[in-house]
Amino acid sequence: MQKGNLIKVPVTGQVIEEEEVEALKKVAENKQFAPAEKVKEFEHNFARYVGKKHGIFVNSGSSANLLAVTAYKKYTNESLITLPALMFPTTLNPYLQNNYDVELIDVDIETLQPQLPQKYGVHTLGNYSNISRIEDSCDALFPGNYKGIIQTFSFFPAHFLSCGEGGMVTTDNDDLYKLMESFAHWGKDCFCPLGYDNACGKRFDQQFGEMPYGYDHKYIYSNIGYNLAGTEMGAAIGIEQLKKLPRFLEIRRRNFTKLYQGLNKYSDVFIMPKTVLPDTAWFSFPITIRKETNIRRRDLVQFLDSKGVGSRPIMGGNLKRQPAYSNIPFIVKESLHNSDLITENSFYVGIWHGLKDEQIEYTISVISEFIENHA
Ligand SMILES: Cc1ncc(COP(=O)(O)O)c(C=O)c1O
Repeated sequence: MQKGNLIKVPVTGQVIEEEEVEALKKVAENKQFAPAEKVKEFEHNFARYVGKKHGIFVNSGSSANLLAVTAYKKYTNESLITLPALMFPTTLNPYLQNNYDVELIDVDIETLQPQLPQKYGVHTLGNYSNISRIEDSCDALFPGNYKGIIQTFSFFPAHFLSCGEGGMVTTDNDDLYKLMESFAHWGKDCFCPLGYDNACGKRFDQQFGEMPYGYDHKYIYSNIGYNLAGTEMGAAIGIEQLKKLPRFLEIRRRNFTKLYQGLNKYSDVFIMPKTVLPDTAWFSFPITIRKETNIRRRDLVQFLDSKGVGSRPIMGGNLKRQPAYSNIPFIVKESLHNSDLITENSFYVGIWHGLKDEQIEYTISVISEFIENHA
């Protein structure tokens, strides 16, 4: 943490303890690495934790988004949707990959979310957004508060829970669950749970299209699928991390509050984040420099970097401005003013669950030093 007289404050990180290491050793001893009992257990435990019936463990949050959107597209055959312009790329990409027309809307400058309820969207940096269909919750956790039809989560080390890499989709909808199971596993038609081979009792007794009668149902494909499966190693770590979430979330809440209290005196310089739901555990602490100040983000984040305090921009900013999307014919009916301001003037610093009080205090003191020098 300490380097010379600098205190290092990584912007994100993971907390992996003895229990996770022991769980990994057991997987290694059993030599069962492909999805099996641990994956089943993790899916069950995580789905229960967020208050949903089904979970499917996949290899990343991006895969979770791809899976959710691909299955939902087949389920509804909708073609035009609305998304906030401020997003992570792989929140948006699956909609483009599934040939949706996308209308971009602006976000509120304090909450970083659209103000009105949305069908599709993202709980940006852990702040709650009212979403009724697909909720990208890769940076967020709202157990018991999910209203959408499908939720997606990321377990990359920067997130609340780390599996090294990993992700999850959750849903209460049985049909979508089956569809997502299929898309996640090569497009298979068979819906035997993990570890079962002939749950329907008709494995060799069915006719599928032009295939020979009795062709093994396990090898019949009814969707243009992927292989997005997570591993036993990831699931074993996830099971242990999940038990620790209440502690991790509490530290994040505490760190957020401390930083907020320390920086609120600069609310003439910064637009401070506004929390939508009480008890929110933020992913990070977003700061937007007011336009009318003489402070430039580039100078401030370089100063932070020179002092050992990590920072990042807010996801991909207004994605319309990113090179990858320059030829995408987005529908834009309103000004994306706030998304642009966030792209130009915002950044976040860390509040993750491995940071100690002295690191949060140090972040406040470094930011304060910069502001006082530029007053
Ligand atoms: C909002 C959001 N969605 C999706 C992802 C993708 O998750 P992953 O890195 O696990 O693919 C991220 C990554 O941080 C994210 O912040």
